[in-house]
Amino acid sequence: MTRPVAAPAALTLTQRPQWQALQKHAGQISSHHLRELFAADADRGERLHAEAAGLYLDYSKQRITDETLSLLLALAQACDLDGWIQAMFRGDRINTTEQRAVLHTALRAPRNEQILVDGLNVVPDVHAVLDRMAVFCDCVRRGAWLGHSGRPIRNIINIGIGGSNLGPVMAFEALRHFSQRDLTFRFIANIDGTDFTEAVQGLVPAETLFIICSKTFTTEETLTNAHAARAWCLQALGDEQAISRHFVAASSNAEEVIKFGIRTDNMFSLWDWDGGRYSMDSAIGLSTMLAIGPDNFRDMLAGFRAMDMHFRDTTANSNLPVLLGLLAIWNSNFLGAQTVAILPYEQYLKRFPAYLQQLAMESNGKHVTRDGTRVDYPTGQIYWGEPGTNGQHSFYQLLHQGTQRVPCDFIGFCRSLNPLGDQHHQLMANLFAQSHALAFGKTGQEARASGTPDALVSHCSFDGNRPSNTILAEQLTPHALGSLVALYEHSVFVQGVIWDIDSFDQWGVELGKILAESTATEMAKLNPSIPCHDSSTEALIRHYQQRREAAP
Ligand code: F6P
Repeated sequence: MTRPVAAPAALTLTQRPQWQALQKHAGQISSHHLRELFAADADRGERLHAEAAGLYLDYSKQRITDETLSLLLALAQACDLDGWIQAMFRGDRINTTEQRAVLHTALRAPRNEQILVDGLNVVPDVHAVLDRMAVFCDCVRRGAWLGHSGRPIRNIINIGIGGSNLGPVMAFEALRHFSQRDLTFRFIANIDGTDFTEAVQGLVPAETLFIICSKTFTTEETLTNAHAARAWCLQALGDEQAISRHFVAASSNAEEVIKFGIRTDNMFSLWDWDGGRYSMDSAIGLSTMLAIGPDNFRDMLAGFRAMDMHFRDTTANSNLPVLLGLLAIWNSNFLGAQTVAILPYEQYLKRFPAYLQQLAMESNGKHVTRDGTRVDYPTGQIYWGEPGTNGQHSFYQLLHQGTQRVPCDFIGFCRSLNPLGDQHHQLMANLFAQSHALAFGKTGQEARASGTPDALVSHCSFDGNRPSNTILAEQLTPHALGSLVALYEHSVFVQGVIWDIDSFDQWGVELGKILAESTATEMAKLNPSIPCHDSSTEALIRHYQQRREAAP
């Protein structure tokens, strides 16, 4: 069943009474400090939390009251959030501009589930690919997959960009603890030759396997790097036959994969109902499965699934992705925040902020609603961040005393995978201290009382009242990573539903791609005197060409 799309809403989002009630309410909230909200409710810290799929979300340090929550939930209801959630899980074509179903949740559905797209159950195909991936990974991991000259594969290089890089590299780093240490993993994304050159540094071609990860298999950067890899391999191995032992693909474009020279039995399929930034648990995760093994990969899928079921079946007021999404709407649309800081207190999650950047910003950086009307409210915040405690010695100054308010998501784990003395306690003490300091600040009076000289009191006081969420899990296992990623996937969707935008297309990346192609062609003509751009771009190209020609 296809969801009726683009039926003109009687009211635009900002005309809805629920939206206007929130606007009015935001005016009232601004006169309340988090200090007062906590003082007035001894149970606030216990009360304003939700727990599911192994994750504990504390949102008591958000600038909200019970009324804020009920107004946000009323807005969600008015936007038919539950209807959209059910439509996504059902496989309706909710990616309306591309007329596609949005079924990343099918990637972690159990074998016995039935999810129909155009009358066909997609779940058996998903499991068939997972099973083939498992056989392949087992073979490589036990050294039975031999390169062309008979040596076992020791190095795995993932070539892909966007979702075909950020998911794999984030998951590899996050789950490195569970990885097979005698295999080396590297990731190439950039068209900058440095990325390729450094990635193959010191590796022996006869022991190296390339995964060409590209849903479309037409992405310029990936194809260029794949051809460089082919040449690097053939130069050493000297035989076209070598390609079948040293190249595999994760793609939905069998025709192009074959054209490149990869056999279809070395190809792991993807589907048009799964977008690049939602694909780390599909065949795009082949490098992850090679690193951590099929069993751990399945644990990760179980984590995704646990959050999926929670999201689908739990009432909105205790639904983690719904709460996280609505709080993001509150902070950005009603309290004026433009960015979100992602602050994992876990070194293994060092690539998580970059991963979320694509997930959130490619999904929700949209300027028109589903029916093409320009929005009259901000959409899509800027996601950024670094692991704690490193960020504390860099940008936290602005978080605490800057003129912009940056809502923060702190992420921590109760047990370390690498206990070292009491370092984990220190790490977590820093996390708790930071969210406390942001919320409660330090008054001038407190600064004076702690001995700050009068001249420095204003410098050493902190306004506080800066909102944050804290997400805790027991330990960074594959299951926990799956739940955490699914939490953010769904919270991004919740925001898109409220904003009435298509969170699953990415038309905004097209213009730059097309212009880069034509610019490259023009530059190759080496005739800077023929004008084809604006005067700034012309001057830059001329400068670039002249300096290149002048170089020894
Ligand atoms: O250009 C954006 C994009 O389409 C992303 O959405 C996607 O993750 C990336 O490019 C890579 O695409 P592909 O997997 O098809 O190479």
